[in-house]
Amino acid sequence: MYHNNEKIDECILQPTLKEGGSYIMENTQSSDAKNTCIIFSLKNDCGSGALAKSLKIFNDKNVNLLHIESRSSPRKPGYEFLVECDSTTGNLGEAIEEIKLISIYFSVISRDYKDNTTAVPWFPSRIRELDRFANQILSYGAELDSDHPGFTDLKYRERRKYFADIAFNYKHGEKLPYVEYTEEETKTWGIVFRNLTKLYKTHACREHNHVFPLLIDNCAYREDNIPQLEDVSNFLKDCTGFTLRPVAGLLSSRDFLAGLAFRVFHSTQYIRHPSRPLYTPEPDVCHELLGHAPLFADPAFAQFSQEIGLASLGAPDDYIERLATCFWFTVEYGLCRQDGEIKAYGAGLLSSFGELEYCLSDKPELREFEPSKTGEQKYPITEYQPVYFVSDSFECAKEKMIKYANTIPRPFGVRYNPYTQSIEVLDSKPQIENLMHNLSMEFQVLHNAFKVLAPRK
Ligand SMILES: [Fe+2]
Repeated sequence: MYHNNEKIDECILQPTLKEGGSYIMENTQSSDAKNTCIIFSLKNDCGSGALAKSLKIFNDKNVNLLHIESRSSPRKPGYEFLVECDSTTGNLGEAIEEIKLISIYFSVISRDYKDNTTAVPWFPSRIRELDRFANQILSYGAELDSDHPGFTDLKYRERRKYFADIAFNYKHGEKLPYVEYTEEETKTWGIVFRNLTKLYKTHACREHNHVFPLLIDNCAYREDNIPQLEDVSNFLKDCTGFTLRPVAGLLSSRDFLAGLAFRVFHSTQYIRHPSRPLYTPEPDVCHELLGHAPLFADPAFAQFSQEIGLASLGAPDDYIERLATCFWFTVEYGLCRQDGEIKAYGAGLLSSFGELEYCLSDKPELREFEPSKTGEQKYPITEYQPVYFVSDSFECAKEKMIKYANTIPRPFGVRYNPYTQSIEVLDSKPQIENLMHNLSMEFQVLHNAFKVLAPRK
């Protein structure tokens, strides 16, 4: 962190900005700070000189800067600047007021949004920014509750720490660490694998049954082998662009959902305690690889999951809770109708031998998935669900999610740019016009292709 003259002078001495280029300067120790991001375009834009002028304001107010970025503005000709500040230092309020006075565009995104009524809750805008909250976990994976089957097993607890440390040290872009599983761990996996695969043909949805043999062929899904996250992540990337990243503990709903916006799924890598192979009080590698992974290889399901993530970016807290509940009743515990029958697609069902049978029995109540209602439903986390929500298809569920997302109070729209793996915040007409222009060019490509094919039928 820095806020002295010497460091700011270094920023000013960076090469002059070129049109279309961007310039990023980051303090590597920023992840633990209480950060506030300010995005602004100055009234009289003069490239790097304009940046220097605004940085001086932060310097004068003794505000530590953690990250400085300038780029071509998508909203008007010229540049816009993103300055991330440590909001615990200096007089940030006064700095913000001064910047506002000289700006033509201004927006605040903050982790401390509750104390600032004009701020939007912080969210990552680039995929590598997922590193920033990966370790802001609610509980470290090595800490077990007293009723956990492995609570008194020192060897198991050591192993859990090993997995938590792997995830804690992971950074975006690295290979997912290869893990040598023990004989006992592989045996536990084998019991779960054997029991669940007996039920998939009759209980799992069509998409799960389509992908599962591919995972056997491509990722060594076998009773005597725990697949590696790296292999599964690469497989998913080829299918839908989804990737896995290891997680050291429990993330907040806001952070977990934000990962989905980038088609990134935070996954555990440890396995449940061997004393109770058909029970786990928290997600483990069986839940992730047998329950979640097959569905993330399906394009429609991947898109549905990403829509939940995109809807969460910058959403108020009460909507985050509703979106997390929708995630619970779909990605975790969803049912669907296929060929006149009810099938399971939720990972919590596809990784639980008992609940997979129970959910298709006549005991639970089934309701139609409707985000505005589903998002309000209370649910138990330690027993089978009394209520499940059913969708006709992932496409249909996705359409409903998009409509629901439009009701979330946000002063902007969001769009994922897969080329730059970043979130575009849409809050100006020129951006929308530019997007519409790009879409009409793509439509032209489709139209031309259709014309070529049409005579052949
Ligand atoms: Fe899960």
